[in-house]
Amino acid sequence: MTVRARILGAAAGGGLPQWNCGCNNCNLARSGVIPRLTQSSLAISGADGSWAILNASPDIREQLTQARSLHPSGLRELPLSAVVVTNGDIDHVAGLLTLRESQPFTLFATPGIHAVLDANPIFDAVNRDLVPRRAIALEEAFDLVPGIAARLFAVPGKVPLYMEAGEVVTDLMGEQTVGVEIEAAGKRIYYIPGCARLSDDLAARIRGANLLFFDGTLWRDDEMIREGLGHKTGARMGHMSMSGPDGSIAAMAGLGIAQKVFVHMNNTNPVHRPDAPERALAEAAGWTIGQDGMEITP
Ligand code: MLT
Ligand code: MN
Ligand code: ZN
Repeated sequence: MTVRARILGAAAGGGLPQWNCGCNNCNLARSGVIPRLTQSSLAISGADGSWAILNASPDIREQLTQARSLHPSGLRELPLSAVVVTNGDIDHVAGLLTLRESQPFTLFATPGIHAVLDANPIFDAVNRDLVPRRAIALEEAFDLVPGIAARLFAVPGKVPLYMEAGEVVTDLMGEQTVGVEIEAAGKRIYYIPGCARLSDDLAARIRGANLLFFDGTLWRDDEMIREGLGHKTGARMGHMSMSGPDGSIAAMAGLGIAQKVFVHMNNTNPVHRPDAPERALAEAAGWTIGQDGMEITP
C-alpha cells in the first residue's frame, strides 16, 4: 500500500504574496518571477483513494480546485474523509468555513483545539451532524483515513495570536500546538508546521523518519525586523528558524531523516528565491523547499 502526501499550500499565514505586503518576495511573486504560494496545508491519501487534509487554510477552495485527486467524483461525492487541525491559528482553521456545504467528513483535533473552535460559534456553520468533531488525546492512535494510523503529539508552541493575553509562553507543551505522526506500510511521516524548538524528545521521535514536513517560517529569527516589516522575532511567534546553531537545519542534520521538506514558509523567507544563497544552503543540507501541488511518496 502506498501513502501519498500532497502539499496543498507551502506558505505560512498570509501566503505569498500577502495582501498588504510590499516586500521584495511579495513583489516578485505578484509579478510572476517566483511562484505564488497558498497558505499552510497538507493532504494525505491512502490505498482506498480517500484523503485527509491536515490544516484547513483560508486558501482551501483554490487548493482543492488545483488538486485533481480531490475533485468530486459524483454530484456530491468527494474523496475527503477527514480534516485535522494542528493548532487554532487562523491559517489552519479558517478554511473550515469553506467546507460548510453539507459535506461529511470527520474533524480531528485535540480537546484543547476543539475547545477553541467550540468557543467560536461561526464554526457551527460546519454542520456537526455531518462533520463530527472527534477529540483525540495526545499520543492516542486513530485512523486518519482507512489503513493509515496517526497520532497527535505536543510540540513546543503557543496559543493562537488572537488568544494571546498577558505574558505569552512561546514554547508551551500541551494540546494547543501539535504535530502529526503517520504510520503506514512501514513508513513514518511527520507533519510539524509550527514548532518553537527541537526538544530532545522531539528529536528522538523524528529520528530515522521516512518523510518530515517541518516549520520553515523564517530563515533567521530577526528576519521580519531586519526587513522593516514588524517588531516580532520568530521565537516570539513560536517558530524556530531554519538557520543558526539552534535552527532546524543544524538541529536535524544528524537525525537520519530520509526526506526533509520545509512548509509554512513566511513570505519574507529568502529561500523562496531560486537564486538565493540561503536556498542553496538549505538544499545542500538535504532539505526540499516545499511548493504548492508538490506530491511526495515516502
Ligand atoms: C503563526 O503561524 O505564527 C500564525 O499563523 C500567525 C498568524 O496567526 O497570523
Ligand atoms: Mn501559521
Ligand atoms: Zn512580503
